[in-house]
Amino acid sequence: SREMLLKGKKVVVTAGPTRERIDPVRFLTNFSSGKMGYAMAQAAAELGAETILISGPVSLPAPSGVKRIMVESAEDMLQAVKAEYADSDFVIKTAAVADYRPKTLHGQKMKKQEGDASLELERTADILHYLGTQKGRQVLIGFAAETNDVSHYAKSKLDRKNADYIIANDVTESQAGFESDTNKVTIFGKGDFEQSFELLPKQELARQLLKLIVEREMRNDR
Ligand code: PMT
Repeated sequence: SREMLLKGKKVVVTAGPTRERIDPVRFLTNFSSGKMGYAMAQAAAELGAETILISGPVSLPAPSGVKRIMVESAEDMLQAVKAEYADSDFVIKTAAVADYRPKTLHGQKMKKQEGDASLELERTADILHYLGTQKGRQVLIGFAAETNDVSHYAKSKLDRKNADYIIANDVTESQAGFESDTNKVTIFGKGDFEQSFELLPKQELARQLLKLIVEREMRNDR
């Protein structure tokens, strides 16, 4: 039988991309498939957690034992996360949330015009940062897609966002990051904690990451 390390705990996972609408038929988005976040949610459920998966638009089925809430935009994701945050124990932000959205949402399909066009963008809310400012007992885990100076940027995100862990993807690796079935990460924690993983299938990596975090946190409690 499996170790039920997370029995009685509530885990909230965000996954996938967000869509930021331009008009009724167009939107801005990114290449997140949801695979990494869905694997994290599945791993949490396997360890016995009450697991809430807040997902942007992806085509994956919900893992069994997971309560899934589908959302579209960064703003929708913020509202859904807020509603689940207060009584959660672990919050894992795997989603690739859009940093910008169109400043105006056109009610009608935009018509083609002569010459070039431009789109004015505004910042979306930084969900992880918001959660960091509201943090109580929750263990807050962010992801970061970095191409260079991975350790420098990951450590600065830990501090700025008041997160407990940042899991940095090396997205220069061809089999890692967006869309692939495998990933290669380094996890950073407070007090200069750092551990690198080899290239692994996302489901296996998710199990190892979650187990490492939960075991460290259980030790910290004592
Ligand atoms: O979905 P897959 O195809 O499997 O790909 C997985 C992944 C590459 C998307 C995933 O592993 C990953 O790295 N997710 C984070 C992507 C990212 O670029 O994050 P970021 O550096 O923009 O943001 C850092 C953290 O802040 C993330 O935890 C993010 O969820 C959070 N954030 C970002 C912007 C925003 N407005 N609100 C946020 O909460």
